[in-house]
Amino acid sequence: MDIIQPASRMTPGPDRRPGFMPWVPYPYTKPCCEPVAHIRAEQLSISYDSRQALQDVDLEINRGCITAVVGPSGCGKTSFLMSINRLTDLIPGCRVSGNLHIKELDVLAPITNLLHLRRMVGMIFQKPTVFPFSIRKNLELPLREHGTHDRTLMASAIEKVLQQVGLWNEVKDRLDRSAQALSGGQQQRLCLARALVLSPDVLLLDEPCSALDPISSGIVEDLIVSLRGHYTVLIVTHNLAQARRIADHVAFFWSFNGVGRLVEHGSAQEIFESPKEELTVAYISGMRG
Ligand SMILES: Nc1ncnc2c1ncn2[C@@H]1O[C@H](COP(=O)(O)OP(=O)(O)OP(=O)(O)O)[C@@H](O)[C@H]1O
Ligand SMILES: [Mg+2]
Repeated sequence: MDIIQPASRMTPGPDRRPGFMPWVPYPYTKPCCEPVAHIRAEQLSISYDSRQALQDVDLEINRGCITAVVGPSGCGKTSFLMSINRLTDLIPGCRVSGNLHIKELDVLAPITNLLHLRRMVGMIFQKPTVFPFSIRKNLELPLREHGTHDRTLMASAIEKVLQQVGLWNEVKDRLDRSAQALSGGQQQRLCLARALVLSPDVLLLDEPCSALDPISSGIVEDLIVSLRGHYTVLIVTHNLAQARRIADHVAFFWSFNGVGRLVEHGSAQEIFESPKEELTVAYISGMRG
């Protein structure tokens, strides 16, 4: 995995001037991602006990793109993300049906190796979830769990990934101090580093900026932009201006009488500038949701 320069050094960062209007076109053209399906969901449905949470989702996610998953609370965004690395298996009473493939891998097949799947598909959550250990140990643990024990190899992987998330200079002198002493934004970048240290193909980000202050949120957002082309990223966000700034594609979900469904999926430009469905128009314009 190459060390990726922070987005701000590669492209102008998101425009956060006071009064910035999210509907004004973003100040740079998003590079094209590969029009190659990486994740494919067909008739994907999720229920908790007997209650349907998500129904019949058909969706293709392109490789190397940033896809924003948007929609009102309770429409199944988190459930959808969690099915992709089978974290749904850990919820008693949760049932996932339909088809879900990452490249050729049949995610839902009982024989799928979950350790391999979760190495391939990293996930981070709204609230940074650092382990109550040192910064170094937070990154060594996943490496050890996936078979790397050599100290030199681990040290170089840790430096590389901390560089990648722009944390190296901030923490290189305190790697053995508690990760919980870091700021919220630093903790979230450490969580991202913990996912990236396993060289995943796919990153699932569930509202990664919503618990952060605006400055930290901007840093994490720039970092996510810098992942474009290197990873397939799905990001749940309630912040439509953020989706508009960073996403190549947008998947819009809605809850119909408590059952989540995919309403529309398309390029960010299509969804924000010429959505096909009335519900999308209402949601994007802030009239519903
Ligand atoms: N562990 C669970 N047990 C039972 N029901 C659940 C569980 N997790 C989610 N649900 C239900 O599934 C539906 C979808 O929830 P989910 O968390 O996926 O929505 P969401 O779109 O991520 O919402 P939010 O924007 O509030 O995070 C909701 O009705 C929720 O109550
Ligand atoms: Mg959620």
